[in-house]
Amino acid sequence: MNLASLAALAATGSVDNGRQLYQSACLQCHGALRPNISPMLAADNPARIREAINPLSLMSTLSYLSNEDLLDIASYIARPGSNDTDRLFDWAEQQGFPDALGKSANATQEYGGYRYRYYPSARLFLGTRNGEVVMLGEGSTVPALLGTMRQYLRQMPPGR
Ligand code: HEC
Repeated sequence: MNLASLAALAATGSVDNGRQLYQSACLQCHGALRPNISPMLAADNPARIREAINPLSLMSTLSYLSNEDLLDIASYIARPGSNDTDRLFDWAEQQGFPDALGKSANATQEYGGYRYRYYPSARLFLGTRNGEVVMLGEGSTVPALLGTMRQYLRQMPPGR
């Protein structure tokens, strides 16, 4: 694991996973995320965390964290108020994916473990649950699996 391979990773990770990792691995020393604490230096910058995890620092015990873990934590630090479902749906609307998706009339809603938005012009629901993205056409009862959330996050451009 070196800095070059870290930089080669896509520049966005999972905010949801990063939030959990921050709570289990960072909170006890740095406290809750807020302006002017040192972890803020790592916003969208996982290499900054990897450099801080060196054998001479108090953070040496964190060397078990993978590059993907650090990417997730750095994404969370950059946008702590966000979540992966909203990031993915906002991006999908901008991309027009699936075809002719249009804009959702509603904010993200929750039902039966799903977080979803309804798209009136495409007449479909997009949802997420347990790390997967699904689509449900109006009148249909079985959601179609579009892939994992991670798979789509990997395609999202840096900084989102
Ligand atoms: C055992 C305590 C401890 C834990 C756990 C810890 N840190 Fe740190 N961290 C420190 C100390 C001490 C410093 C140096 C003083 C400071 O800047 O607050 C530091 C510094 C930093 C810096 C600044 C490094 C620089 O480039 O100046 C970053 C970024 C950082 N920590 C991120 C994290 C993240 C992210 C986690 C969780 C994965 C974490 N730390 C977990 C103790 C800890």
